[in-house]
Amino acid sequence: MNIVAFHGSPRTNSNSSHMLREFLRGAADRQANCHEVFAAENTVSSCRGCLRCNLIKRCAIKGDAWEALRLKILDATVLVFASPVYFHHLTSPLKQILDRFRSFMHIQVTAEGLLHTAWQEWKKHFVLLLAQGSPDNDNAKPIIDLFTFITRALGPGNSLHSIVGTRLAVKGQVIMSREELGTLYTRLELPAHLAEIDCERNQELLQSCHDLGFGLAGKEEG
Ligand SMILES: Cc1cc2nc3c(=O)[nH]c(=O)nc-3n(C[C@H](O)[C@H](O)[C@H](O)COP(=O)(O)O)c2cc1C
Repeated sequence: MNIVAFHGSPRTNSNSSHMLREFLRGAADRQANCHEVFAAENTVSSCRGCLRCNLIKRCAIKGDAWEALRLKILDATVLVFASPVYFHHLTSPLKQILDRFRSFMHIQVTAEGLLHTAWQEWKKHFVLLLAQGSPDNDNAKPIIDLFTFITRALGPGNSLHSIVGTRLAVKGQVIMSREELGTLYTRLELPAHLAEIDCERNQELLQSCHDLGFGLAGKEEG
């Protein structure tokens, strides 16, 4: 099984990349092949809105990494998007790549609204692994809504799975030990008992990322 995995964070030792690494470790246990893309490297340029894809069935932009990447995307069964939540949304480099997905579909303006039809039959698992500073899930909702829309626009055969890591503020927080988290929470003036609770919760979060990777890589292809 082929997987394309997008890292959306611009920072190293990022929480969302740690979540993605666990997912990929789980998938590797089932011998899945993975192609990783680091969105912040900006090798895919932004959509120019020319809409030529509606006629030529592919993106008209030449000379960037998209052409090779689109073939890998079409060949994959699982697409994983790991991103920090930035003002309730994806990071901009990741959104820039996602906009190029416009070229995978035909869009028709009808009196009732826009009609989206994928050029190919899509039967993929989309996975969102999100990290956010806020303790509640609401901040990630616009991203989940966006992917609910995209997976549906690309056809009924797709599915969406999402995992949100909460109260993750600083680099590498999701893999911190109980002691490290205790020191951080003292500095952040958070109640001391939360460090214990969150350390366990973070471990469960990473385990759920691993289990999802393992589970999806074990599913039948096609
Ligand atoms: C520009 C910016 C905007 C952010 N916006 C939000 C937000 O809307 N909601 C939230 O809960 N956290 C927000 N955060 C916090 C990040 O989501 C959090 O630090 C996360 O752990 C970063 O993930 P990473 O380590 O994978 O980069 C924001 C951080 C930055 C730098």
